[in-house]
Amino acid sequence: MRYDFNMLARLNVLKFVWFYLFMPFSSQVEFFAWWKRDFRSPAPHSVKMSILGTAKDVHVWVETGTFMGRTTKILAQNSSRVISIEPSTELAARAAQLFVNSRNIEIVNGLSEVELEPILETLPASSLNIAFWLDGHYSEGITHLGPIETPIIQELEIIASKLQKFHNVTVFIDDFRCFASQQQDYPATSFLSEWATSNNLKWSVEHDIFIARKSMT
Ligand SMILES: C[S@@+](CC[C@H](N)C(=O)[O-])C[C@H]1O[C@@H](n2cnc3c(N)ncnc32)[C@H](O)[C@@H]1O
Repeated sequence: MRYDFNMLARLNVLKFVWFYLFMPFSSQVEFFAWWKRDFRSPAPHSVKMSILGTAKDVHVWVETGTFMGRTTKILAQNSSRVISIEPSTELAARAAQLFVNSRNIEIVNGLSEVELEPILETLPASSLNIAFWLDGHYSEGITHLGPIETPIIQELEIIASKLQKFHNVTVFIDDFRCFASQQQDYPATSFLSEWATSNNLKWSVEHDIFIARKSMT
């Protein structure tokens, strides 16, 4: 096959090579594996993080499912407050220890379907722009397995009931492919789009992440 690159495409390739050469080895391995999978989901972590970076001027990030705190750490670099919910006592304790000196990170040990509502209730009115990274679910290994694999339906009900409290709201839901293949306890993709539409949110899907936005600006 013959590729006819224009100038911009060539520059993008150079940019990628430069970016690739200087990324940590673990990320290079992730990118290589992604390329071998013909860029099928899931995308490397850095690609997912660039999608979360499209939420601008976020005052508070709420993450469900802390796991090793990999995303928590990145969210805290661009926001004044990050609240991350993790039901596994062991993982929550590990994250609390990891972020003991990070004053803008709070680790909440509990189920998101239980903890999310009181967290949103107690957020001050000054938390104008809020973003959610909904990634709390059973994921094999040492991750928590409760009565349901994913609490996404409850999480979205809680968020819908608090939408009016915040100015800009962005909801990122990871692992869209699990909704598409209707893995155990995962509702259909139409549940996500109908939830967004019925709450007057604009929605899209990028690299296995469902995104819903309420933007007042
Ligand atoms: C895929 S991992 C999260 C990865 C992490 N958010 C990141 O970006 O690196 C899923 C996590 O969700 C947690 N989890 C399982 N059930 C949960 C629930 N009901 N509420 C919140 N978190 C849950 C698991 O223990 C696990 O740590």
